Amino acid sequence: MQSDSFYADHWKEIEDDRVARYEQMFVWREGHKTLLEPAGIEEGQAVLDVGSGPGFFALALADMVGEAGRVDGVDINTRFVGDANKRARERDNVAFHLVTDHRLPFSDGSYDRVICKNVLEYVPDLDATLNEVHRVLKSGGRMHVIDSDWGFVVVEPWGKTTVDKFFAAAAAAFKEPYIGRKVPGLMALAGFSNIEVRLSSFVDRAGTGLNVLANMASYIKTLATLPDQEVAGLLNQARDGIATGSYLFCLPQFLVTGVR
Ligand SMILES: C[S@@+](CC[C@H](N)C(=O)[O-])C[C@H]1O[C@@H](n2cnc3c(N)ncnc32)[C@H](O)[C@@H]1O
Repeated sequence: MQSDSFYADHWKEIEDDRVARYEQMFVWREGHKTLLEPAGIEEGQAVLDVGSGPGFFALALADMVGEAGRVDGVDINTRFVGDANKRARERDNVAFHLVTDHRLPFSDGSYDRVICKNVLEYVPDLDATLNEVHRVLKSGGRMHVIDSDWGFVVVEPWGKTTVDKFFAAAAAAFKEPYIGRKVPGLMALAGFSNIEVRLSSFVDRAGTGLNVLANMASYIKTLATLPDQEVAGLLNQARDGIATGSYLFCLPQFLVTGVR
């Protein structure tokens, strides 16, 4: 298995069960409004969602900007773009587009806001992506990044050593697994100003985080970096922990804004 481009390849072809997990994980919830707060989304704005996936976030953004505004989503996955356009078929103010690299098919200064949620850890060239976002923003427009940092993950009852081993086995699935802590500095280098960083906690005791662990397990299976049986045992341990109360999953989200 070629692992040097796995971080990008695993998004181009996605197994059905992973798509189903993403639809569960990324379906719009009212709680997502907290993640968007620093973006300052308002009626009438033009918004771009980079890495729009199944499209739920962009559709919610389209409700927020209303008929006077517009939302474009871009993604490298053909199926996500097709499904998202189907979800948007009754709407005039939102459209999804396929991209093949960091280049965005939009003119300079097109957008008031660019949102990028849980995507930057996968892009091949972070500097090129941030420069391109900077280009398509209007002067005074804002980029808002929502992202994880895989050095901050907690899974109980596994303990830290096992968590480190499990996520190290999945590391090739990310170009930059520590994106949360890196992105403010990289945005500054790309020319953004007024950079602000907040952390939003994600704490799960009911089992939502198992979707994240199942996705990691699918990467590990493809990469063959741990025996299947060991991975299955860990997932069962986490599942059993829900029944006994010992399960806990935490993955804070970095919320980073910058102004063009
Ligand atoms: C974890 S999902 C997040 C989806 C969506 N932003 C959300 O939160 O609902 C990551 C998304 O980024 C997309 N992606 C990965 N690399 C990309 C790239 N280089 N350019 C654009 N999209 C990319 C994937 O296809 C996938 O849809």
